[in-house]
Amino acid sequence: QQKIYILGIESSCDDTSAAILCNGKVLSNVVASQKIHEQYGGVVPELASRAHQQNIVPVIDQALKQAGIDKKQLDGIAFTRGPGLMGSLLVGTSFAKSLALALDIPLIDVNHMQAHILAHFIEEEEFDKPEFPFLAMTISGGHTQIVKVDNYFDMEVIGETLDDAVGEAFDKSAKIFGLPYPGGPLIDKYAKLGNPKAFLFPKPKVGELNFSFSGLKTSVLYFTQKKLKENPNFIEENLNDICASLQHTIINILVDKLKKASKQTGIKRIAIGGGVSANSGIRAALKEGEHKFGWKTFVPKFEYTTDNAAMIGIVGYLKFLKKDFTDMSVVAKSRIKF
Ligand code: KG4
Ligand code: ZN
Repeated sequence: QQKIYILGIESSCDDTSAAILCNGKVLSNVVASQKIHEQYGGVVPELASRAHQQNIVPVIDQALKQAGIDKKQLDGIAFTRGPGLMGSLLVGTSFAKSLALALDIPLIDVNHMQAHILAHFIEEEEFDKPEFPFLAMTISGGHTQIVKVDNYFDMEVIGETLDDAVGEAFDKSAKIFGLPYPGGPLIDKYAKLGNPKAFLFPKPKVGELNFSFSGLKTSVLYFTQKKLKENPNFIEENLNDICASLQHTIINILVDKLKKASKQTGIKRIAIGGGVSANSGIRAALKEGEHKFGWKTFVPKFEYTTDNAAMIGIVGYLKFLKKDFTDMSVVAKSRIKF
């Protein structure tokens, strides 16, 4: 069999990443995460693009080195065209164009949201690939979407957030509790030790399959302010119960919409992706869905759920097989639909 080597480049937010894939199998997947944003409690776009500029050459060199190939062996270059932060996307886009031009090989543009979903098709022995059609739920610090996936490039967004992403609900609540950024993994950690029914947070009323998390954040703020007035040590004394209750509410919101989407479409295969899919509560809830509703659920390997270039590379490979290339006139786009 012919060997097709694809370089994937991801720079849509605050991770600079490069991966080499051979026939859909990952040979390397290097991610440089930007620590600089921690002290600001969120991603600062201007600082992100500067850090991408510094990281991109060493990250690509490292990916080639770890894969044990020379750049002259590459067959195509795939890059994230959008959606994402414009200044960040520009770095990856410009670099991909220049390198494709220098090596005279095909350039392949990739939609970041499609890549989160198609990450399930990276060749991995222990991980099953979902059969079509399936429902994909992408949950991270930047995205909250439910997508009906009929084929690799035939997919439709059937629900999405109208305001904050679910990861923001975790991170902003954590900030209110005085936890460091990003607080999602910490809420998960404390939640394991607490009572999920200790406190009641309101579930937003949003129609169809859409989500809204900004109201939840506001109620977490009012709840915290009120309780702190009564007892200045309220958070420390109840952190586990608060985290367990909040996580319970968020998971209920996600699972309710999945149940609705599954009922509406008649599809029982559910694949998740994005950083929040690391959450132990959501994983347990999906397992429960397998028993309760006959779902078959798919969770990719952790390194392919958060922002990474391997997922860009797999889309690049699938598009390479179709000869779906782009040309040098391509520009980054901060907002794009499928
Ligand atoms: O996919 P990702 O690394 O970056 C993007 O936002 O694109 O996702 C990061 C998000 C953050 O909001 C982080 O708090 C959240 O994923 N996260 C978690 C957990 N691990 C990461 N949220 C809840 N529980 C977790 N275990
Ligand atoms: Zn992402």
